[in-house]
Amino acid sequence: MIYLDNAASTWPKPEGVIRAVTECLEEAGANPGRSGHRMAARASRILGDARRELASLFGIRDPNNILFFANATQAINQALKGFLQPGDHVVTTGWEHNAVARPLEAMRREGRIGVTVIPASPGGAVDPAEVERAIQRETRLIVATHGSNVTGAVMPVEEIGALARKRGVRFLVDAAQTAGNLPIDVETMGIDMLAFPGHKGLYGPQGTGGLYVNPEVSLSPLIQGGTGSRSEQLEHPRGRPEGFESGTPNTPGIAGLAAGVRFVRETGIQKIHRKEMHMAETLRSALSEMEGIAVYTPQGSRLPVVAFNLEGLDSLEVAAILDTHYDIAVRAGFHCAALAHRSLGTESTGAVRASFGYFNREADVDALLAALQEIRKFFH
Ligand SMILES: Cc1ncc(COP(=O)(O)O)c(C=O)c1O
Repeated sequence: MIYLDNAASTWPKPEGVIRAVTECLEEAGANPGRSGHRMAARASRILGDARRELASLFGIRDPNNILFFANATQAINQALKGFLQPGDHVVTTGWEHNAVARPLEAMRREGRIGVTVIPASPGGAVDPAEVERAIQRETRLIVATHGSNVTGAVMPVEEIGALARKRGVRFLVDAAQTAGNLPIDVETMGIDMLAFPGHKGLYGPQGTGGLYVNPEVSLSPLIQGGTGSRSEQLEHPRGRPEGFESGTPNTPGIAGLAAGVRFVRETGIQKIHRKEMHMAETLRSALSEMEGIAVYTPQGSRLPVVAFNLEGLDSLEVAAILDTHYDIAVRAGFHCAALAHRSLGTESTGAVRASFGYFNREADVDALLAALQEIRKFFH
């Protein structure tokens, strides 16, 4: 199988990740933070180590401000629903994934918040000046994806962070496509909340993700329950991280996530990015020169994602042919990003998306190009 669906979940995982998950299951399978015995303490240390690895990667001072969730979607829901109050206004972008767009839309329909969506130019980023113009008296939050999962367009997060600070508005960044792919520093980028998946560019297992929350931001937990702390009290604890991580965590997954982050840090984000971008750019430029192919990823894109369509063919059909006849896995359709496809003008067709990871090889690009040439010839 040639796997070109790394923007959904990276695969394969580094050996160290598989080893860390197995080791946790074999040797530290107790419940962290609950029982006082040594194996439980070892499981707790796994969570602490993972928080420290992530804190180093994202420039976070206190690792306890990193909260673990099952994926980026849960982290984003916690951020939005735990922060926003009735009457608040939110500024967001036309590139958002449904993980952001749907909870915002649900809250808007319930009449709890107002939302302004800054439209995105096809293939490009949003204009920070437009974001600033959309700020109203009631605006408490700006929410932006760092990078589009459809075209790879990267948003000017640093500029938006600076203007959010200047205007006294909090800033939530969805780093689903950029964590592990682009440098992120929450302090210098002015990021108050950073939602990240563990299973994409951080090379951890599925079922992992998290949210960084600036200590000055007040957040209510979405879920209450057992935390292993102050068990004699009925009142739910408010401390971080335990007040936001009720119930037994995914310790084996988080052990794998820590190993994934170590892999990224040891290999180097720049080295990973350079390798992935070389393959993505080879594909993007070759597709741009082929007749009968519409390419949506702009030249100079900074994420290893290439979106395209074969004219006259449904994107889902192309993906199914690639899978069944060529053993190539890509993603087609709408990529959980209705807003982005509206921005691109592909709201009725969707697109085929090939996305690269560190373990792809240049031969994978050649195989995809040859398959697409054949498919095109067959249908025309
Ligand atoms: C930009 C973006 N945001 C959010 C998500 C949701 O991530 P998760 O599947 O970890 O919830 C994705 C996943 O594809 C994404 O690409």
